[in-house]
Amino acid sequence: MPPTTMKRILVIHGPNLNRLGRREPEIYGHHTLEAIDAEIIQAGEALGVIVQTFQSNHEGELVDRIQQAAEEVDGLVINPAAYTHTSVALRDALQMLDIPVIEVHLSNIYRRESFRHHSMTAAAATGQIAGLGKNGYLLALEALVRMDADAS
Ligand code: DQA
Repeated sequence: MPPTTMKRILVIHGPNLNRLGRREPEIYGHHTLEAIDAEIIQAGEALGVIVQTFQSNHEGELVDRIQQAAEEVDGLVINPAAYTHTSVALRDALQMLDIPVIEVHLSNIYRRESFRHHSMTAAAATGQIAGLGKNGYLLALEALVRMDADAS
């Protein structure tokens, strides 16, 4: 992997993702959020970046964390969960960032109910990964690191 200036990456998980492993495992998989976060942090170490993770069920807390990220990190991975489909506040917060943002969904939102087909937040993201389960987070991390190396 080429040298990178991407040093710190924040991974944000939205509402109900704290219930992963117990929540509709046939859709979201059997891994808990704790296990997924541990894997993401380990993958970050292998890529030479420091990964922080954050989960909240509250829209305002997610907005606060995104605003804070503007000062603290070099890239953001976010699964806005249900707020993907509803939140102008999250979209506006993401829009203010000048760091790359990857939106991740565990499930393929385009194969599910029609209300999940539209993402309010995707237009404020650099790119989106959907339907690859927890691997989506790992691929998003790698994409951020590669994107940065390509730019330098
Ligand atoms: C989700 C998809 C959303 O539609 C849903 O509300 C979630 C999880 C996903 O990761 O597949 O909570 O973002």
